Formats: sequence, structure tokens, C-alpha cells
Amino acid sequence: MNLHDTARAILRQNDQGRYTLPTHGLYPYQWNWDSAFAAWGFTTFDPERGWRELETLMSGQWDDGMVPHILFHRTDPGYFPGPDVWQGRGPIPSSGITQPPVAASFMAKMLSMHPEGEQRARILWPRLKSWHDWFMKWRLDQGAVCVTHPWEAGRDNAPDWDRAMRLIDVSEIGDYTRRDTSHVDPSMRPTKYDYDRYLKLVQLGVSVSWDHEALKKINPFRVADPTMTFTLLRANRDLRDMGKVFGEDISVIDNWITTLEQGATTLWNEDIQGYDSRNALTGEFNGILSNASALCWYAGINNEAARPSVERMLAAATYGLPSFDPEADGFEPLRYWRGPTWPVMNYLVGSGMEEMGLCDLAGRIKNDTAQLMQRNGFAEYYDPISGRPAGGDSFSWTAAVWLGWAGDSFVTEKGVA
Ligand code: GLC
Repeated sequence: MNLHDTARAILRQNDQGRYTLPTHGLYPYQWNWDSAFAAWGFTTFDPERGWRELETLMSGQWDDGMVPHILFHRTDPGYFPGPDVWQGRGPIPSSGITQPPVAASFMAKMLSMHPEGEQRARILWPRLKSWHDWFMKWRLDQGAVCVTHPWEAGRDNAPDWDRAMRLIDVSEIGDYTRRDTSHVDPSMRPTKYDYDRYLKLVQLGVSVSWDHEALKKINPFRVADPTMTFTLLRANRDLRDMGKVFGEDISVIDNWITTLEQGATTLWNEDIQGYDSRNALTGEFNGILSNASALCWYAGINNEAARPSVERMLAAATYGLPSFDPEADGFEPLRYWRGPTWPVMNYLVGSGMEEMGLCDLAGRIKNDTAQLMQRNGFAEYYDPISGRPAGGDSFSWTAAVWLGWAGDSFVTEKGVA
């Protein structure tokens, strides 16, 4: 079987009919940004299935516009914290937080690959707009987008959150049993210290029934984040472009774009020469150089000053782009978002660089990503030094990145399709 066939087989194997699991076992539900990647991956060979994926994701939207980070379509005891812990208040049992809003951008891609889907895109467009509107209403700090739980950024245990997490009181957390560490090696996963704090934030949300106004007053965790800011900025550009074609009123989206462009400048940290996360409650930068800084090009911001720090991270790794600066204290090449390289981030970063003409850097990242998959399969993420695959395997979004992007050059070289 060539790699294209393997990648398609992974998406089929994780397919639940209307939605796709990130991987069996470790993640037995529908995750928000994973699903947008899966929709795009499916569109490369089964567009009908791709559109259905996005429709299922948006069917979990809350009446205030939020699209949850997990939809619990059916209960699975293999995952903690499940629907009984989260107690989301949408039409489908869900978590109470969201994830990076990449869906509109993938919808734009899908439409260019499969113009026959236009009618379906027209129906989804207003729902995506109301999700973006929700971000603009509830999540801004000086024009940058905040996360209210580390899992919201998609970079779950990145060092970005360490300082803000220290301020969370977990004395009344109670007993609980994790499930993630029974699926994969605990040394790759977040620690108990982190997990206690993740859960405390969930308990706080539940205590106010996920009322955003009330939660804002009691939540000790509010961090302005480059991942969220850059993905929303990009998604708004894509939403605006599609809206123009659909004859929708897009004036407010232009304002959102201006606000977020301004907000992005407030994340620039001279000390690390990169875009940093900033604690919105204290105003302090976290001083963390991560792969999220390199999303500026994806967001349409061609900042030359951001380039040297990315080059330095690439030079220090065999396989780019590491999720955390390999030269920083606390770099851990195998632990989740504290060092490993993630194909999904590589795609967002690399495709943004391609669009902005940074072809050398984009080529390096794309080639590294393809090599990892060729040598080590479709893992959740990889050690950026040794290339060792880690986390879950047979991963949907990794397969999608191969089908939609990283596998391109291998198609021409080897004649596979
Ligand atoms: C982890 C990742 C997150 C992803 C989820 C499912 O929680 O950090 O970004 O959405 O797994 O793959």
C-alpha cells in the first residue's frame, strides 16, 4: 500500500459515519479542529464525506455561537473528563470551551477543491460567522484572542500556560481517574500537577453553567494566545472572501480583521523576538517561543522580524518545526506540546509561509513533515530530534496533512496518487 492509500485507510478507519475520531482509544469523540482537518482530508477523495464532517461539527454549536472543543456523540468510558464532568449546554453533549477556529479556512479550501459544495458552504457560512462573532464578543484582550483553559488553544500543555496555572487553587479538586495514561506512555502526557488544574477550570465553568459573563469574573486563567489570534484572523479573511462571493454582508468582518491585526501587534515580545502568549489578568508576557509565533504568515502578517527565531528553532531540530524552542530550559522532545513537532501545526505554518513567498522555510518544514510520515507513519506527533513517533498512532489529522499537503511532492516523484 502506498502512503496515500494508508492515509485514506486511516480516515476510513476513524470514520464514525458523520464525524471522525482523532484516533481510536485515546480520543473517542469528535474534536473541533481535528474535525476541520479531517473534513479537508476527506475532500481529497470523498468530498461528500468531507462536507458532512463540517456539518456535524457545526450541529454542536451553542445558541450563543460557541462551537465546543469536544462533541460527545456517544459516551465512551475510555475517556476522562467525559460529558458528565463537562456538562456543556449545547444541543449535543459537549465540553464547555472551544478550540482554534480553523473550520472556515478549511471550508474555503474545500470549496476550491469541490465547487459543487457551494450550497452546503452557503448554509454553514452564517453559523461560522456567529462563532467568530462569539470570539470577538467574549475572548478579546487588547484585540488579541484569549484562551480560558489550556485545552482551548489546542496546544494543551504548552509551557505558555505554566505561570497562569500556578495561580489556580486545586485544594478542593477531589479524586478522579485519568484515562489518557492507560492508552499511551505517561512520560509523554501532561503531569498530574497539570491535570489537577485542567479539571479545576472545568469545575469552575460548571459552577456557573458555562455562563461566559459569570465565568469571566471567577476564572483565574485568561491568556491571550498567538494560536487563537492568528487562526481567527486567517479564518476571518477566508470568511470575508467567501461571504463576498455569496453576496453576504461582510462589513463587520472587515472590522474584526482590523481589530485582530492590531491585537496581534500586542503579542509581539521583543525579548524573544517572536509572538508570545500574554497573561491577560496580569499583563505579563510568558517569554515562550513556540511554533505558534510562526503562524503570523498564515494570518497574512508578513513580519520579517519573526523569521530569525523560526530559523533558529529549525536549525536546532532535525525535523521542524518544534512546538517549543529546543534551546530553552524545559524543552522536552517527547512530551506533548513541550518540544515535539506536530504535522498539523507544520501545515498551518508551512502553507502560510508558502502563500507569503517564504519558500525556503516552507520547503524545509514541508519536507521534514513528509519525511516523518514516510519513515514513521501517521503518528499524533514526533520527536523533532530523532523523529520517533509519539502519542497516539493512525491519527486522522496527520493523515489529512499528508493527503492535502505534505504528500504533494511524493505524488509527482513516485507517481502515486
Ligand atoms: C490533544 C491535542 C489537541 C487535539 C486533541 C485531539 O488534546 O492537544 O490539540 O485537538 O488532542 O487530537
